[in-house]
Amino acid sequence: MRKKLIAGNWKMNNNVEESLKLVEALISSKLKEDVDVLICPPFTSLYPVIRELKNSSIKTGAQNVHYEDKGAYTGEVSPLMLKSLGVEYVIIGHSERRQYFGETDLIINKKVKACLRHGLKPILCVGETLDQREAGLEKETVRNQLIKDLDGVTDGSGLVIAYEPVWAIGTGKTATSTQANEMSSYIREVLADIFTAHIAENMKIQYGGSVNASNAKEILDQPHIDGALVGGASLKADEFIKIINY
Ligand code: PGA
Repeated sequence: MRKKLIAGNWKMNNNVEESLKLVEALISSKLKEDVDVLICPPFTSLYPVIRELKNSSIKTGAQNVHYEDKGAYTGEVSPLMLKSLGVEYVIIGHSERRQYFGETDLIINKKVKACLRHGLKPILCVGETLDQREAGLEKETVRNQLIKDLDGVTDGSGLVIAYEPVWAIGTGKTATSTQANEMSSYIREVLADIFTAHIAENMKIQYGGSVNASNAKEILDQPHIDGALVGGASLKADEFIKIINY
């Protein structure tokens, strides 16, 4: 059985004070035990959040990373820096980074490999745009992303995939649970081709895109969906707690 991983991607929200307030609300609530909970605050809140979560089972992730270990890369943060803070996961290839920051599959591939090299778990985001879905190209798009982003990666066991249809992110439109489950099942087939069927069977595939307290259960009950990557709804403690306790 794959344990569900429910992650909050805070994006560019919450200063240190706001981050700690949100974390305190999570720590003091009763959370489902058979679910792994992960929060991904902005870089500036990582250290205080990790300190606050020291005695908690809630895990911490970053939203981005550079692929080099160190050097003259103004403004960037290396995998080693994240590792030394106690960060466990890193979101890579989010559609906002692909769209607004020009991240290509080549860059994403380097980031995935850099994380795996240093024992950080990448959450690799893939997903089609509305145009691609309307043209019937959603599977081909996701397959191409997976093949390019995982090029040269020999073991996928430390890796999480997040299926995030771009048209569902921050729009209030979710994929239906059937669409999300179908794509996750397809992603598992592609992962079996890239790695082995056994590795693919054990990899977690999350769904992301307008997940909230009302639709979480239906999505998370799908057999091929192993968790959620939650944006907007992870910024409100009550709502995120309801999603975790779906
Ligand atoms: P959303 O974002 O839940 O606000 O749609 C999801 C994501 O971008 O990971």
